[in-house]
Amino acid sequence: MSELNKIALKILSDGKGILAADESTATMTKRLDAVKVQSNEQNRLLFRKTLFTSESMKSCIGGVILYDETIKQKSETKSIPEIIINNGAIPGIKVDTGAKPLAGSTEEKITEGLDGLRERLKVYYKLGARFTKWRGVYSISKKNPSSLCIHSNAHALARYSSLVQECGMVPIVEPELLMDGNHSAALCFDKTSEIIKKCFEELIIHNVDLKGVILKPNMILDGNSSESKITNEEVADLTLKCLKDSVPQEVPGIAFLSGGQTELEATENLNFINKKNNTKFIMTYSYGRALQQSALKHWSKNIQDIKGTQEIFNHRARMCTLAAKGEWSKELEKKN
Ligand code: 13P
Repeated sequence: MSELNKIALKILSDGKGILAADESTATMTKRLDAVKVQSNEQNRLLFRKTLFTSESMKSCIGGVILYDETIKQKSETKSIPEIIINNGAIPGIKVDTGAKPLAGSTEEKITEGLDGLRERLKVYYKLGARFTKWRGVYSISKKNPSSLCIHSNAHALARYSSLVQECGMVPIVEPELLMDGNHSAALCFDKTSEIIKKCFEELIIHNVDLKGVILKPNMILDGNSSESKITNEEVADLTLKCLKDSVPQEVPGIAFLSGGQTELEATENLNFINKKNNTKFIMTYSYGRALQQSALKHWSKNIQDIKGTQEIFNHRARMCTLAAKGEWSKELEKKN
């Protein structure tokens, strides 16, 4: 088994998932503004450290994705990566520099960050990171995502993945088709399949070792302003079909983003996916909002209430881990 494959499996096995705590400072400021907490370096660290030292880290969280600011922060004598490692998880790092307007298209985006990436990766490796994240983002409409957007983001994801593996880390490949719009789940299925297939086509051209890659896709859903809503079971069926047809067998695991689903929706859908999983892929979570939302809301009322905040986060992480094993239920959700 290659070292990269071992890292990927350590992050994803036994119902463990990924805590995506890599919001850029601008995004984190939006999240903190929404709950009326001042966004400064100290508060961002306090909230994140509260999560990273929670009890559920050891049993539920296999990896934590950090932002550049956080991976360099310290708490007393320990660095944040050390704290994460001591709590049983692997530190990861977001390495793209964001989605910018795509030249040649009027409304689409291309993710940047390849310039100087090899050098930045070496620094992150020394700081303790063993996996990375790069997010390509695609909007959906009758004509989008365009083939230009699908092709250029796949190319960037492949160049990124190849550089990351060269540096001894596992790349998370995250092509996110946004939920925004009134499109049908059928259109989401077609576009997501096309996007993922193109990503792997490019990864293979760039000689990326597929056993050392984690895919982070969206689930197949109706648009968030669509009037019709497919059931959790249909979400699971369509998502599994899409991934079975689009992802090469060598890939060890898939960790979904929550993408704006509520905590409950993201948990319930993941549970159905695992109950029905007829693929050989591990199917787990790499949630940002769907792991943090309730904890953040509670914390914002009293930022010194570490214990209370951790209890809420622990519950969410445990529910997601049950869902990653197909063992979640509404009764268990209420009991805890
Ligand atoms: P959400 O789960 O909030 O979509 O965040 C996951 C993520 O890492 C987005 O890049």
